[in-house]
Amino acid sequence: MEEQLVLVRREPPIAVLTLNRLEVLNALSTGLKRALEDAVEELDADPEVKAIVLSGSERAFAAGADISEMAELSAIEMMQMDRARSWQRLRAARKPLIAAVRGYALGGGCELALLCDMIIAGESAKFGQPEVKIGIIPGVGGTQYLTRGLGKWRAMELVLTGRRVSAAEMDAMGLLTRVVPDGEVLSQAEALAREVAEMPPLAVRLGKEAVQRAFLGTLDEGLELERRNFYLLFASADRSEGMRAFLEKRPPHWTGT
Ligand code: COA
Repeated sequence: MEEQLVLVRREPPIAVLTLNRLEVLNALSTGLKRALEDAVEELDADPEVKAIVLSGSERAFAAGADISEMAELSAIEMMQMDRARSWQRLRAARKPLIAAVRGYALGGGCELALLCDMIIAGESAKFGQPEVKIGIIPGVGGTQYLTRGLGKWRAMELVLTGRRVSAAEMDAMGLLTRVVPDGEVLSQAEALAREVAEMPPLAVRLGKEAVQRAFLGTLDEGLELERRNFYLLFASADRSEGMRAFLEKRPPHWTGT
């Protein structure tokens, strides 16, 4: 039987996805990316799953696009494969994605972590966009994420030198949610997923959408969407329940409506 490229551990209210091409440090081949996108889409549609953790191995979260697969492709072939568009399927997930990063997160692996909504990284995790060293540039969001996260001048250095960045430095630059001891990466990412999964689902969904808009759109668009989502939540049963429970000094019971 063919080995599964992505392992799925479904433990409602969370699920944990593990990239499983250990022998090549989870290099993101077309097959692995497709398996990942399919798994995320399926879990995103699963009503029992409220948050998704994405992890790799101890040695590598993912060491980038599969160079052996790309080496002989022409520009036109790359364009026809339209890898960037396929990542759109991951970006479209409505449920929170939490990256649990151990080891290398390079190139597409770094972009995959940055695409996630939160990142828990181990102390010895190593990030970077080394594409320039093989004559290309980040192709699935790296230049945009880093520039929005860091400003032009720091992002430029990372994109133009391909320098590797430690978890401590990523954290200091504000690009991580948290750095934890290597042995605790998965457990802390799962705990964070469970914490989010306890929150009312509509507020989580609209909150994620609003934060994402701040990241991707203009300030005016972001404020408009935030305002709309804020008012919309006043129509939800969970908003009434949450406020009532607070006033009645009891835990809320969420129905997701
Ligand atoms: N694509 C394809 N194969 C990759 C890969 C990638 N992005 N990254 C690692 N591999 C493969 C290696 O070719 C090697 O395969 P082999 O055992 O058949 O020789 C295996 O994974 C282990 O990698 P190796 O380089 O031997 O491990 P290392 O510990 O010496 O170095 C890295 C680890 C991550 C520093 C190094 O593998 C690397 O620089 N990878 C490429 C990172 C990159 O440039 N990513 C951006 C791509 S656009």
